[in-house]
Amino acid sequence: MNGFETPGPVIRLEKVTKIFNDSGQPTTAVREVSLEARRGEMVLLLGPSGSGKTTLLTLIAGLTRPTSGSISLFGKNVEEYSATELQSLRAERIGFVFQTFLLIDSLTATENIEIVLRFNRKRRAGRAGKTRALLGELGIEHLADRFPRAMSQGEKQRVAIARAIANDAELLIADEPTGSLETRQAIDIIALLHGQAERRNTTVIVASHDLRLKEFADRTLRLQDGMIS
Ligand SMILES: Nc1ncnc2c1ncn2[C@@H]1O[C@H](COP(=O)(O)OP(=O)(O)OP(=O)(O)O)[C@@H](O)[C@H]1O
Ligand SMILES: [Mg+2]
Repeated sequence: MNGFETPGPVIRLEKVTKIFNDSGQPTTAVREVSLEARRGEMVLLLGPSGSGKTTLLTLIAGLTRPTSGSISLFGKNVEEYSATELQSLRAERIGFVFQTFLLIDSLTATENIEIVLRFNRKRRAGRAGKTRALLGELGIEHLADRFPRAMSQGEKQRVAIARAIANDAELLIADEPTGSLETRQAIDIIALLHGQAERRNTTVIVASHDLRLKEFADRTLRLQDGMIS
């Protein structure tokens, strides 16, 4: 438990639709999706390419506004948060893991993780100890001073996860976190995310097209053409 208590679901979407209009022809990426996720729960959004997974994740994170429907995050409608409030939610309560890792090439593993803590006023103190502990938890202490170019895909993904959880996020959002990994590594990563949900009572939302992940999730929602079936 990390001090913030959210009664009810951490995420709640009600009939959320997202239509993109920027390419001339309107594209409905997400259609009337309703879902909830609670604390300590790992939810898998399973769907093929183009089914709307990334769009749904950006809606959940308050990075995109829905065309219609409502989204609540930590018990409050996202429309009621100011831009600054949304920014600090993302810095302090939400962690992101992207398919492409987005590690900074010129920084070591330790520095890539610490950068998150630098943006978070509350967590500045003791960040060196915190980063070491995280590297240990993820079994990558030996990578502390290594640069991304000298890491395997699986190792980079672990550093990206360490960075995402460094701020004790209550909500972890992962877009295809196993996309470029071998089966063994993919299973390790997903088990690690599941462990996060369990041990830290974090809500974890994972989007993937990878059926192998199904058995590790508490709940699987299937997405097809922007709809949950
Ligand atoms: N900014 C945008 N403008 C127009 N259309 C978009 C935009 N972003 C996504 N789309 C369209 O919305 C649909 C869903 O895209 P999305 O990226 O959410 O799918 P996805 O399930 O994440 O796919 P992938 O597995 O390939 O990452 C697609 O048809 C896509 O072309
Ligand atoms: Mg995507």
